[in-house]
Amino acid sequence: MTLTSLPAWRALLAHTATPLPHLRELFAADAQRFANFSVEFDGWLLDYSKQRVNSETMELLGALWQSADMHGWMARMKSGDTINQSEARAVGHTWLRAPLPRPEVSAVLAQMKQFCADIHDGAWRGATGKRITDVVNIGIGGSDLGPRMVTRALVKHAIPNFRVHYVANLDGADLALTLKTLDPATTLFIICSKTFTTQETMLNARSARDWLTTSLGADAVSKHFVAVSTNLGEVAKFGIDTDNAFAFWDWVGGRYSLWSSVGLSVALAIGFDNFSQLLAGAASMDEHFFNAPIGQNLPALLGLLQVWNTSFLGAPTQAILPYSQSLELLTRHLQQLEMESNGKRVDREGAELTSPACPVIWGEPGTNGQHAFYQLIHQGGRLIPCDFIAVKRPDYELPGHHTKLLANCFAQSQALMLGKTLAEVLAEGTDATLAPNKVFPGNQPSNTLLMPAITPRSIGQLVALYEHKVFVAGCLWDINSFDQWGVEYGKQLAARLVPVLEGTATSGDTLDSSTAGLVKASRVESSA
Ligand code: F6P
Repeated sequence: MTLTSLPAWRALLAHTATPLPHLRELFAADAQRFANFSVEFDGWLLDYSKQRVNSETMELLGALWQSADMHGWMARMKSGDTINQSEARAVGHTWLRAPLPRPEVSAVLAQMKQFCADIHDGAWRGATGKRITDVVNIGIGGSDLGPRMVTRALVKHAIPNFRVHYVANLDGADLALTLKTLDPATTLFIICSKTFTTQETMLNARSARDWLTTSLGADAVSKHFVAVSTNLGEVAKFGIDTDNAFAFWDWVGGRYSLWSSVGLSVALAIGFDNFSQLLAGAASMDEHFFNAPIGQNLPALLGLLQVWNTSFLGAPTQAILPYSQSLELLTRHLQQLEMESNGKRVDREGAELTSPACPVIWGEPGTNGQHAFYQLIHQGGRLIPCDFIAVKRPDYELPGHHTKLLANCFAQSQALMLGKTLAEVLAEGTDATLAPNKVFPGNQPSNTLLMPAITPRSIGQLVALYEHKVFVAGCLWDINSFDQWGVEYGKQLAARLVPVLEGTATSGDTLDSSTAGLVKASRVESSA
């Protein structure tokens, strides 16, 4: 039986037949709405009272959770069943942050800890005997976005006089501009790639190696290059001593790999003790997810509400709006986490879904976004569920900033919920011809997540929270959240076009006219 034919799914569909009253009416009718639709966990608050739900909706979503056998899926994930069936892999990212990790995980964590100490204490030196002051993580996708986001978020906890840079893009500008600021004698490169075959990463790695060896000679590579990978054979082929390689395993998906040795750049940026706190924070969210009852369970609620908004209310997108400059890269990380995981068109059995699963994830930190795209959320006529993420304690205590930041965050979700009627606009004395422009429909659903502070522990919790939310939504949609076949086709076609663009092969007449036209138009005439 497909998920959409389950009685629980059909009951939710039937529930949408009579739309709930406008959110402002739901609030007016129930003074306890916030108390009834908010939960706390370890200093966190999730307020989902501004979602278009009532207690019946939540009960029906709870029934869907049961029908989808969520507890069974959690147990299968924990025990190492092959729940990533299309790649024949287990899904073990939670094992990486377990309080008592498996021996192979402990061994790599010990190796990372020693390496961080050696770099920070100056025991590990570059080929000329100078201390390492700059680390460049070369990786892309999951080998970049998570570590980059966490390093940015925790900059306040950074080791002094030590810099970590991230290079991802195939565009040479990314590497070239980074190298411009660096001295080869004091720079260490982490080549971070699960497969160690990714085109962008391997080309950037080779260009970085050329840059280094041009000034320091070929022998310098062993003191300036380390690798993070599951593919130690390819690491050796590249010329990095496997003693300088940090392993991880095929049961760790790229976008879930921050907790493995892929987090080496983070550990170097903030110190291994802080990295351990990050893992401990994530582990505390795992514990909460696996054990808390559904009505108290933050990832469960976020996942259920996403499915409600997407599949039953028809919202095609979801905005992630962190009111924290430290979280400026969060949305980018969540874009990969959510859309590479759940942007799928078939269920676990390969049957086509009856409607699209994952919404388009987008957003920017507030308050910047308020001056850019919030216009559309308020008055653009589309249903756009929003996750507002705010922090109780500010990272930096500049007088007046934090209260104003929070005021803006809470006011935005309030305005989106309440809206403003034509009668209210006219009552403000607005001219009748102008008045329609000042009407706000409201009834726009949102969650507000209030975090205690930006610390290694809370960032670990935040990322793990969204990882589990994605798992919940994926299970409710009956899709495999842990493969990513959709990224392969473009890579194949690009590989075929490279020799055509390099002029070492012709395409014959196999190209469509647009691609052929673009190839032709992109050729830069030689000035000679
Ligand atoms: O192209 C997508 C992808 O496979 C992601 O899933 C992954 O995080 C990224 O590429 C990088 O892959 P790797 O770590 O193997 O270089």
